[in-house]
Amino acid sequence: MEVVICPDAEAVGALAASKVARVCRDVGPEVVIGVATGSSPLALYDHLARLVREGSLDLSRATAFALDEYVGLPVEHPESYASVIDRTVTQPLGLDPARVHLPDGNASDVPTACRAYEQAIAAVGGVDVQILGVGANGHIGFNEPGSSLSSRTRIKTLATSTRADNARFFERLDQVPTHCITQGLGTIMDAREVVLVAQGQHKVDAVAGVVEGPVTARCPGSVLQFHQHATVVLDEHASAGLAGAQEYRNAWDHKPDWQRWR
Ligand code: GLP
Repeated sequence: MEVVICPDAEAVGALAASKVARVCRDVGPEVVIGVATGSSPLALYDHLARLVREGSLDLSRATAFALDEYVGLPVEHPESYASVIDRTVTQPLGLDPARVHLPDGNASDVPTACRAYEQAIAAVGGVDVQILGVGANGHIGFNEPGSSLSSRTRIKTLATSTRADNARFFERLDQVPTHCITQGLGTIMDAREVVLVAQGQHKVDAVAGVVEGPVTARCPGSVLQFHQHATVVLDEHASAGLAGAQEYRNAWDHKPDWQRWR
């Protein structure tokens, strides 16, 4: 796991975007990107969008798969992840909407829809780079504590704390859906690269669990310790609980030129 500590949230977005852009350029125009919702990757998307506008990155033939979707929220609802991804990813990054995929949160046969989602990812050869945030309870995607570390796309019940966290996007807590469809931890682990971003004091415990805690279903993101190519980009606040912070800075500052992607 590569841990990079940045001075502030803006720098997190810029650095993480440069990592994602590097993978996109290396893979080529048909790159497959895994995209996350939440506030954490918004600066990353802004920086990617800038590269697209400047003409140094073309994602018009890229394919994208979202991590998750609420169950039972109409697609046209402004807080459905279909709407959020369209607003924050598809349009600003110039993706082709026909190549942007989300789990079907309104499927009449949920298990079949989940299998179809896994098959769609496999059909394009898997995800080249997966963008991730992390929930305050350590969830990635919507894999809440207790999720199987080898889980695949399936329906999950949202944790009480996650519904409370996400209530800020709705008028009232009882409007936050109780269920979601999410890629599993095994699905996420199949991505060839993962880039996780976290900012702010409220992510200290989650980040410490993901980066340095025991690998445990109590902190689902900790499974990334088993990933061969996981990059975690943090601001000072989110990194404050890391015992190895000095060593991560040292390793980053002394990276050989050929390993650099900033
Ligand atoms: C959401 C999403 C996750 C996201 C997390 C953190 O509910 N399902 O993909 O990483 O919770 O959200 P935020 O970045 O807003 O803190």
